[in-house]
Parts: sequence; C-alpha cells; structure tokens
Amino acid sequence: MSDSTESDGRTITLGRLLIARWMAVFKALGLYEWQHSGVRAAADRVLEVVALLDESGGEVQLAVRGDSIFVNSIRIREGGFSAVSYQSLERLLNLCDINTISMDAETPPNEIQVLAYLLRRITEGGSTADELARELEVRGVTSLVVTFAKGEKPQADMLEGKELQKRVYLGSIGVLKSVFHEAREKDRINSRRVKRVVQQLIESMETDPGYMLNLTSVKNYDEYTFNHSVNVSVLAVALARAVGLSRRQLCIVGQAGMLHDLGKLCIPKHVLNKKGRLTPDERLQVQTHPVEGFLSVASKQGVASDSIGVALGAYEHHLNIDGSGYPKVASARAIGLSSRILAIVDRYDAMTSARIYRTTPMAPPKALSILHQSQRTQTDQSLLRYFMNMLGCFPLGTVVRLSSGCIAIVVGRSTRDDVPHMPVVKLVLDEMGRPAPDDTIDLVSTLKDGEPLTVLEVLDAAEYGIEVLDYIL
Ligand SMILES: [Fe+2]
Ligand SMILES: [Fe+2]
Repeated sequence: MSDSTESDGRTITLGRLLIARWMAVFKALGLYEWQHSGVRAAADRVLEVVALLDESGGEVQLAVRGDSIFVNSIRIREGGFSAVSYQSLERLLNLCDINTISMDAETPPNEIQVLAYLLRRITEGGSTADELARELEVRGVTSLVVTFAKGEKPQADMLEGKELQKRVYLGSIGVLKSVFHEAREKDRINSRRVKRVVQQLIESMETDPGYMLNLTSVKNYDEYTFNHSVNVSVLAVALARAVGLSRRQLCIVGQAGMLHDLGKLCIPKHVLNKKGRLTPDERLQVQTHPVEGFLSVASKQGVASDSIGVALGAYEHHLNIDGSGYPKVASARAIGLSSRILAIVDRYDAMTSARIYRTTPMAPPKALSILHQSQRTQTDQSLLRYFMNMLGCFPLGTVVRLSSGCIAIVVGRSTRDDVPHMPVVKLVLDEMGRPAPDDTIDLVSTLKDGEPLTVLEVLDAAEYGIEVLDYIL
C-alpha cells in the first residue's frame, strides 16, 4: 500500500468512527440536557477521534456534499458501521444547510455540546437554520467553525468591513478567555487557536484598520485581562503595521499581545483584584508575571516556531529601553522591537481602562500625554510618535465638549491630510445637557463657517453617564 493510500485508509476508518461518535452526541441529547455529563462524555469521545485524525497538526473538517460525507476531503462511504449513523448525520447537516464543520483536538467539548444542541433544536422546529450562525456567535462558539451552503448563510468570510471586524474582535475575546481557562485548568496553551485569531485580526485589518482601532475603546466587554489583552494585540498589530513590519512579524507581535499577561494566572486573585495600595510583598508578586508568562509560553505544549518571539514579548513588556522596569535585569540589554511596541500599547490600554483600584479610566489624550512626558530614556520615542500619529490627538471613543457647548464622542478622524487632528464626532448631549439629535459632524466641514466648531476639552465619559460602547459598536 502506498503512503497516501495508507493514510486515506486511516482517514476513512477514523472518519467512520467520527460520524458514529457525532451521532452518539445527538443520541445522548435525546436522554439528557445539553450540559449533562452524559452529553459531555459523548463530546469527549468525538474529540478522541479528532485527536487521532489531527496528529499532523491540522484541523479536522467534516463536510457534506449532496448525500456524501467527507472527512478531510476524503469521501467516507457507508459501510463498516451502521449506515443509520451515516444517513442520519448527512440528513441532519443538509437540513441545517451546513456545508462544513471544522474542529481540532483543542476544541472545547462544550462547543460540540452547544452545536449538537442547536442542530437538534432545528430538527425539532425550535429554531431555524437561519438563526444558527448568530446563536453560535452569541454562545461563544469560536473553535468549532461552521460554514453554510454557499450564499445562504452569513459566513465569516462573506462578511465585510465593520461587521467582520466586530465579529473577529468580539470572537477573539471569547477565544482568549477559553485559552486562559485551559492554561489554568490543564496547564497547556492552545497556541494554534491564538495564532488563528491573530491571523483573522490581521486579515480583517488589512484594508482599513480604523474600525478595529475603534473597537479597542471597548474596555469592559469581558473581564479586564481578556479585553485588555485583545486590545493590546490589536494596537500592537496596528502599530507594527504602521512601522512597516512583515506579515510574519505582525503575527508574532499579535500573539505576544494576546499572551503578554498570561503570567498573571500565577498571581493570587486577592492581590490582582485588590482595591487599595499593594504592599511591597504584593507588588513583588505582581512583578513576577513577565517571568511566569515567559516560562509558560516557552515551555508549554503546542507552541510553535513563533514561540521565542511571543515568550520574549511576555518577558519584556514591562522593561524600559534603559533597563529599568521589571523583571530586574543585570545590565541594560537591547529590548526587541516587538517588546518596545508592546510596552507602549500595554501602558496606553491599561491607563485608558477602568480598573478595580481606579474606577475612572483616563481620557485617551491624557494617557498619550503621559506617555509622551515619560522619560525619553525609557520609551522608544520614534515608536511613540508613530503611535500618537496613528491614534490622533483625539482617539476614537474620546468624549469631548465642543465650542458650541454640546458634548460629543469621537467616532472618526478627518481624512484631510492638512488637518489630521480634526475629529469626526457624534453628538451625545446638547448645550443644555439634553439628549442631542442623532447627528455626526466632521469638524473639518465647519472650518468654512464663520464659527468653526472646535474641541474645548476632553471629558470623563463615566461622569456624564456615557457608555462609549453604545456609540462605537
Ligand atoms: Fe503586564
Ligand atoms: Fe498588560
């Protein structure tokens, strides 16, 4: 038997087993609620087969074309096991307009449980196939990727612009949450999932990174660490892109952004969530997270060739270019470009986020000004200039008082090169503090008027009860 025939034969055998095990999940759902341990056990058995099929490190794809099922593009014919499973799965997938289901050995079993539950609900008339994509998104299913019969359902790759960026951004937060959970519970990092979401971020930012930068104004979509890490990843990719790094470097810096605070898993929660001042001991505990993060990323299973760059990012993100910061190093050393990028965007996002010990986030222009005033010997000044230029004087999401007295939120930037600092704003409150009519104003367009509108001051969104998220998403 030649190698390829041998591997095809193995795929066919395991493919039949995979089909049978998926059907076993549906059978378990006939007996139990979807969260029940019986359904979980059936999902685990699906993943056992996926792990065997996935040995080469790729994804496992189950596809249906007409009345045939394919596993990793190999047609699985009926036979060798009950034809009932085969026909039932084929009918079910066709009924739900599903084209492919992709998974890998690291897919959380609960995603299999959720998908099976939703498919069963469709067969019982409890929902429609049209609602499936939305339900999967809402329930945070991100490792299992489902595509639908062409042209009929909203596939991620058919979405464009803002919708795609929003979906990728919010999806990344969900993925990172489950990666951190797995790192804590199972002591392993699913680096492939991290890499995949970073690649999606990069691709969705390719044509216009503006809206994705907008989304980093979202600070409280989930727990701070996940939201913050995704923001650091997005901002780092955008800055790396602005200074002309290669696609591979963007991917490494993006992964480093996602995992830079992974070492915080080793810090007791009562220290991380402490409202008051940290004691010297507690401060030392917090300062271990770059080393712990480095060790985790560098040593855990599944980290591929990018691992050193990603691990170094975790190690160096609190180090200044003059060697100050932490962890303490014996002598000043050259800090990598990725780490210098991370150091800037990490501080910026942390300052502009609400924290337990500082419930009012700093306005973006103030944070930029603090970074600008920081010791020249500590921060890479040229990178900082790129960063400030990228965000503008009034970063997206900044709440401002206009010269008319109205309060508005920055939702864009002037596209005119001669006045790049002029924002596009959306009115929130009128000059009397009443809800303003729904109006978006490009301040540049008012320059030709007798009294052009200008920004008088930057305000604290929380003080005015303004939920930035409502205007950004
Ligand atoms: Fe950190
Ligand atoms: Fe951080």
